Amino acid sequence: MAVVDFFSNSTITIDIGFRYIKIVQVKKSRNSVLSVMNYGIGDTPKGCIKNGAIKDKDAVVSEISRVLREHNINSKEAKIVMSGTNIISRVIMIDKVPASEVDKKVWEEIRATVPVDMNANRVDYKLLGDTIVDGQEKIKVFVTVVSKKIIDNYISILNDLNLKPIAVDIPSNSVSKFFKLNIDTGTESTSRKLKYSKYKNNNTWIVFDLGSETTIINILKDKTPEFNRVILKGSSKVDLEIHKELEMLPNELAKAELYKKMYGLSTIKTPCNEYSCAKATMRVMDSIIKDIKMCIDFYLTRCNGENPSKIFLIGGGSQMKGIEEYFEENLGLPAYRINVAKIDGLEFGPNLDVARLNYLVNALGVAL
Ligand SMILES: Nc1ncnc2c1ncn2[C@@H]1O[C@H](COP(=O)(O)OP(=O)(O)OP(=O)(O)O)[C@@H](O)[C@H]1O
Ligand SMILES: [Mg+2]
Repeated sequence: MAVVDFFSNSTITIDIGFRYIKIVQVKKSRNSVLSVMNYGIGDTPKGCIKNGAIKDKDAVVSEISRVLREHNINSKEAKIVMSGTNIISRVIMIDKVPASEVDKKVWEEIRATVPVDMNANRVDYKLLGDTIVDGQEKIKVFVTVVSKKIIDNYISILNDLNLKPIAVDIPSNSVSKFFKLNIDTGTESTSRKLKYSKYKNNNTWIVFDLGSETTIINILKDKTPEFNRVILKGSSKVDLEIHKELEMLPNELAKAELYKKMYGLSTIKTPCNEYSCAKATMRVMDSIIKDIKMCIDFYLTRCNGENPSKIFLIGGGSQMKGIEEYFEENLGLPAYRINVAKIDGLEFGPNLDVARLNYLVNALGVAL
């Protein structure tokens, strides 16, 4: 037996996005630090996610196998994160009742207000705490609904890979678990402190997952998910808009994406390629921000939420140039890319590129 067995207790976690498949091999050490031993990012076969399920399973399994081989990832157990699309999450309020009656009351309310087939779906809830609505004491509850068929679909991917399924989770959980880590965004300059001093003691944060086809809004209060909404607009819409703006040839979509990465939300004022691209990018981002504002408004008014104090940006789209400033300006809150933060309790093995952390948040969260 080896003196140090680096491969014991290690787990593979998989997040299949519309564009990229993120695969991480992690290990929890005794002092509960999560160590990333290895990771790889593969290409999701085109058009294979439909209504939250993986349709072309064989193509996905073969791409995951390739990444596992290429990166020498060899654990036998795995956890997987489901696509955020087609998951229902709701905040409901129940009358305040004694602790022993809460469970019964929650299920009554779920049956009355969340009309889903209880046999075909897995329904879970989390108590979010007491609140006052119109002068009445209520308990706030976060409810999630996932189709059992879709869960089975994800389990069968792990089975096809000869991996033992340990967990299937949803993005609102994986994100909130990740944000339970101690995240340090550094010391603020005095001017920024002053600008955002209004909300200084508040522990409600918004985490935006800027993906390729989706933008997911997660609102966390005291690190617990309070609100989750998937907007079916993502970074790939920017590629299409640049493509249109520059009247590019049908086969030049990859070039449009490259322009997006090069120029992002540039504030250049003189008309040129960069200016046109940024204008197209801004159009898409403005429409996403409009949807986001509606969601925040819904959270504040209908879910009895409190004004968030901070924004975190994750997902590939959070690499966009100027994105922090853009969110700060539009939502009036300080915004941070996750890969500039210092995170306690997470370490990367030598030779791994830590700068791609923003892609890995869901895959790491499910490991925790
Ligand atoms: N520097 C950059 N600037 C702008 N966008 C970028 C940059 N780098 C990557 N992206 C975009 O990030 C997207 C991929 O991000 P990600 O891997 O988070 O998506 P996904 O998880 O596959 O999609 P989804 O979450 O919608 O299922 C692509 O649209 C890509 O163009
Ligand atoms: Mg994603």
